[in-house]
Amino acid sequence: MIVLGGERLSDASVVFVQKEHFGELENKKNAKSILRFFSGKYEETFFSVDAESRAIIYMGLGEDIPDGKRRKEIAAAAAKTMKKSGINNYSMDISVFVKAAGLSALRDVAEGIYLGSYEICHPGTKRREDFCVQLTGYPRELQKEAEKQLKKGLCLGKARVWAMDMVNAPGNRFHPMDFAREIMSRMENSLIQCELLVYGKLNAMGMQALTSVGKSSENPPCMLVMRYRGAGLDCPVTGLLGGGVTCDTGGYCLKPADSMLGVKGDMAGGAAVAAAMLALAKNKVPVNVTGVIPMCENRISPSSLVPGDVIGSYSGKTIEICNTDAEGRLIMADAMAYIAEEERVDRVLDIATLTGASVDVLGFSTAPVLSNDETFFSEFMTGAEIARERYWRLPIFEEQKDMLKSEIADVKNMGKYYCKTIVAGLFIQAFSMDKPWIHVDIAGTAQVDTPLYEGQPKGATGFGVSSLYYLLDQS
Ligand code: BES
Ligand code: ZN
Repeated sequence: MIVLGGERLSDASVVFVQKEHFGELENKKNAKSILRFFSGKYEETFFSVDAESRAIIYMGLGEDIPDGKRRKEIAAAAAKTMKKSGINNYSMDISVFVKAAGLSALRDVAEGIYLGSYEICHPGTKRREDFCVQLTGYPRELQKEAEKQLKKGLCLGKARVWAMDMVNAPGNRFHPMDFAREIMSRMENSLIQCELLVYGKLNAMGMQALTSVGKSSENPPCMLVMRYRGAGLDCPVTGLLGGGVTCDTGGYCLKPADSMLGVKGDMAGGAAVAAAMLALAKNKVPVNVTGVIPMCENRISPSSLVPGDVIGSYSGKTIEICNTDAEGRLIMADAMAYIAEEERVDRVLDIATLTGASVDVLGFSTAPVLSNDETFFSEFMTGAEIARERYWRLPIFEEQKDMLKSEIADVKNMGKYYCKTIVAGLFIQAFSMDKPWIHVDIAGTAQVDTPLYEGQPKGATGFGVSSLYYLLDQS
């Protein structure tokens, strides 16, 4: 729980410190002796006790006032430190941040606290929110606005944690239908309407790209459609597609053993779409969104695809299979064709853990983006800026489209071993009926083995949830 409060009620508090402002600290008496042990470096912590025997945790901010990204990170680092120390009821003075960024700092801090306090919890089990943080140091006369900003941060923080739980869920305990049921049960009492297309229905509809991958497993594929109408029915609808491979072994083009670690997280795009939509609905943001998540496993079985196969797809296009590990784009292709043809969407964004090549280029902090529409792209980047997430746009050229040409089908699921991230995006775009489009590849950013900053948990990161949310809420 995170609450707003003027007076400190708890018996421990976090104080963020810039070295040159040390003299302004409450317990000036101790300031000198604290300085002997604490230099105020970024993320440095120092434990002390004040005159009333309350624990004070000083957290260094370094030389500069942290920007938004670092505000979220330092709040996460503070929350993690408190959790590690067994303190779960504390206040946090955020005046430095409010001075620098106004009340929007509350959103960053709230999301950061959720990240830093994160502990894995299997989806479907009731999460224990075992921390109570009281935020202090904002102007009391702005209480109403402060509450509004905090609520945004809380909804997002909770949604992001939910997405992380789903991504962290073991592949053998979270099959496609479990994924769908988890989302539907969370959305049951929300303003989002869900429709689940089960295996038989997908077959009847001719979703061959999705079912051809999905029938590699005894756990059948499915596709979840979520509709949120926060604005008038005649207002534009944004389509969000999220990749939902709950277990990706690579199929017959089997992944090498040390590339298997992330296989359970190949549904992070789908989790991000569901979580962002839930946060939008909880905050009653006046927009219309249709989300689609194709869900399946990619395993080895007598009915798995093998290279050289040709399959059909919902769009009618035939696809030559060159590599069975390029399955994410196949299931996204059917979802894309479905949303473009059957749902009334004016623009569409797809997000998935699609290519290892994206990690080679941009690493674990930054996700590549492709787009064919300047207005849509710039709106997305504004959202990303508010979300404090990093993206980098890759180019699209005609000759790259040629890499998808097949001699035996309309298109093939892999080009040569070059510009693989761009080719994967262009493959999906080929099914979009030329809608304004954005493609986001979160293969590198969705999970981390080694956290990138002090407060980041290992495993799922929840990357993308906030950017999708702020794409649609820039108020
Ligand atoms: N899910 C993987 C991509 C991935 C790689 C995600 C590393 C997270 C970390 C995807 O299905 C895949 O394996 N893609 C292939 C495509 C290739 C065969 C064209 C890849 O990137 O190697
Ligand atoms: Zn794969």
